[in-house]
Amino acid sequence: MRFEPARGLSGELRAPPDKSISHRAALLGAMASEPVRIERYLHAADTTSTLDAVRALGALVEVREEEIVVRGTGLREAREPDGPIDVGNAGTLLRLLPGWLAAQEGRSFTLDGDESIRRRPVDRIAKPLRQMGAEITARDARLPPLEVRGARLRGISYELEVASAQVKSCVLLAALAADGATTVGEPARSRDHTERMLLAAGVAIHRHGRHVTVVNADELLLHSVRVPGDASSAAFLVAAGILVPGSRLLIGDVGVNWTRTGFLRIVRRMQGIVLGDLEEETGELVAEEPVSDLDVAHGALEGTEVEAEEVPFAIDELPLVALLGCFAEGDTVVRGAQELRVKESDRIAGVVEGLRGLGAEIEATGDGFAVRGTGGLRGGTIDARGDHRLAMMGAVAGLASQEGVEVSGMEVAAVSYPAFVEDLTTLARHRGLARAGWAVDRDEHGRGAHEASSARSDRKPG
Ligand code: S3P
Repeated sequence: MRFEPARGLSGELRAPPDKSISHRAALLGAMASEPVRIERYLHAADTTSTLDAVRALGALVEVREEEIVVRGTGLREAREPDGPIDVGNAGTLLRLLPGWLAAQEGRSFTLDGDESIRRRPVDRIAKPLRQMGAEITARDARLPPLEVRGARLRGISYELEVASAQVKSCVLLAALAADGATTVGEPARSRDHTERMLLAAGVAIHRHGRHVTVVNADELLLHSVRVPGDASSAAFLVAAGILVPGSRLLIGDVGVNWTRTGFLRIVRRMQGIVLGDLEEETGELVAEEPVSDLDVAHGALEGTEVEAEEVPFAIDELPLVALLGCFAEGDTVVRGAQELRVKESDRIAGVVEGLRGLGAEIEATGDGFAVRGTGGLRGGTIDARGDHRLAMMGAVAGLASQEGVEVSGMEVAAVSYPAFVEDLTTLARHRGLARAGWAVDRDEHGRGAHEASSARSDRKPG
């Protein structure tokens, strides 16, 4: 698919629902004994895999127009399915689900997925789950297919070797049905959606700095979840708005949980124009997932440096930091991001080789990359490598390039953002016309009143 240089994007759009929160809501729904209503569930390939998985485990899922309802089996009553559970391309499902399955005494489960999933390490979850008492086997001891044999679990204290929200969440889910309390320590803070949702479900959960403690529960009392817009999907629109001259966009209903807004903080440090009411860290664990509108405008950028502790807060947006770096003045360097090597693709190789093919001056390092800003990109062809985020980065690069970009494998965007191309097209097409639609009611905190629009379509043309 080809993306020609754009004259400017404008209009107003709602971000698609959050993928991380959708996965968690469906899983916790399946673990609950009472029905859970999920408003604005993300209907994309990854989160459809999660619905299929929980159905295979005995949950009932009813898909209605504006919400889904999950009728779960309870914490300890997952059904043993007839065959392997297919997680598709969903790494989050691959890592979180075994936490629940490990507590299903005497039952066995096999998880497998696509070619990319088969390259994603699972030893990082096998280790703590074994310490809790489950039997786990994996191909070559570290790759899917993964087999989980459930057992009566015991609570543990566990220090994560990598800052990974997926591994942390896996242990926290296992802890719900384990004897005693479980404490997980992380080397650096990572997204905390699981903690917030467990708190909302009435679980005894506490955070002390980099440690989270969960006490086992009889049941989850989660009645409804409203999924906010996905900050990682919105990031592609933010990058397009900043890079394409003449752009001005309003992106509504974006989740601004501070553990997810690292990219927006980096953009602001680069002098990019993005206004919004971002949550600030208070040190306190809260159940709420805050949202804000983001007001984005084109502008000049300066290079920046991103260090290891900032990486988990922007992990999925780092390809965009590289792209912005191409257009900035000076150098942009990302360090401590070796986790990018084990994402849906090796994202360090994919970003560096992909952007270099479009004319960028960029080098890979062992744990990140360094870009020399040249003020723009020529254009050319880029391979998505089966990775949704590389495909969307290529599309944004095309709109901002001098000669356009052809993305090979664009369809993989459907993993997290099925309407991505349609949304970009709408923003380009409604240039000018959209301005009239910009007025968005705000409350005293500057948050857009998008609740009222939940009965409407997810995407509002300008
Ligand atoms: C996710 C956590 C991150 C992120 C992934 C989603 C989650 O992975 O890259 O897209 O929902 O917990 P890691 O926890 O492995 O870094």
